[in-house]
Amino acid sequence: MRPELLIDTDPGIDDALAILMAHANANVAGLAIAGGNVGLAHTTRNALKLVETIGAETPVFPGCASPLVVAAPDAGFVHGADGFGDTGYFNASRLPEEEHAANAIVRLARERPGELTLVALAPLTNLALAVRLDPTLPSRVARLVVMGGAVTGRGNTHHVAAEFNIGFDPEAAHVVFSAWPAFDLVDWEACLRHTFDFDWFEATLAGGDARARFYDAISRKTRAFNRMRGRPGVVAADALAMAVALDPGIVSEAETRHVAVEMTGALTRGATVVDWEGRLGATPNARIVVAVDQGRFEALVAGALGAAR
Ligand code: RIB
Ligand code: CA
Repeated sequence: MRPELLIDTDPGIDDALAILMAHANANVAGLAIAGGNVGLAHTTRNALKLVETIGAETPVFPGCASPLVVAAPDAGFVHGADGFGDTGYFNASRLPEEEHAANAIVRLARERPGELTLVALAPLTNLALAVRLDPTLPSRVARLVVMGGAVTGRGNTHHVAAEFNIGFDPEAAHVVFSAWPAFDLVDWEACLRHTFDFDWFEATLAGGDARARFYDAISRKTRAFNRMRGRPGVVAADALAMAVALDPGIVSEAETRHVAVEMTGALTRGATVVDWEGRLGATPNARIVVAVDQGRFEALVAGALGAAR
């Protein structure tokens, strides 16, 4: 049985790899689009182009352009000003749906109760709105997998303890983490433990099909950025979260704890605060993914690019 996914995303280079993985291994009910890595117009345009490149009919639902409360800087310096490596690609001929992403999430979960795995690869603004529109939403999705956070404070933004998706909209993350009694959390630190060897990734792209050629073009800037930052390898955060969504058995180590979001700290706004010792007595809400089977992760990525692992 192929998993049934509903993906919230801000494409975004690593989002694109995750979306390729999803279409290679699952049925995708829709792409809910948020502003985040770059503005909503770009993330929507990128999602449409990617779906067209894949040859899929997946509906694309534009959602929230900005965080719930406080504006935040995007990550165009990582992904390119257009979010897809500034390659100047021709727009897809397809148009986005009229329905807002938050409404689409609510509707699809009501139409398909207990079926959908919700995969959150963006700031959580759309999900926060959706769960405010329909407080029963958590009970209607089979599973929520979130790419976000930095569970011991090693973030990737200028609020150094904050990871981008949470740091871009901490209020939305607080709403979602408070509303969902249980979700899987794939944080930035796990992504740094599960990078791809640079040469392996280049060889995988070279050995792939049209999907690999498209991904090679849009990701060139980000791959160079990764190397320049002295990272241990290619970091593909959303791809790791997608691997956990597609293959739950890939998780080799996890810790279930209560995770909250700091919203006011001058230095710590956007930090994910984990009650490791259970001192606060709050019911654990997050299964923190600590480690996955790297071979299975790489096989999913290679397969999504049309290459052998
Ligand atoms: O911190 C990594 C996350 O922020 C990924 O989802 C990436 O696409 C950006 O949105
Ligand atoms: Ca993303």
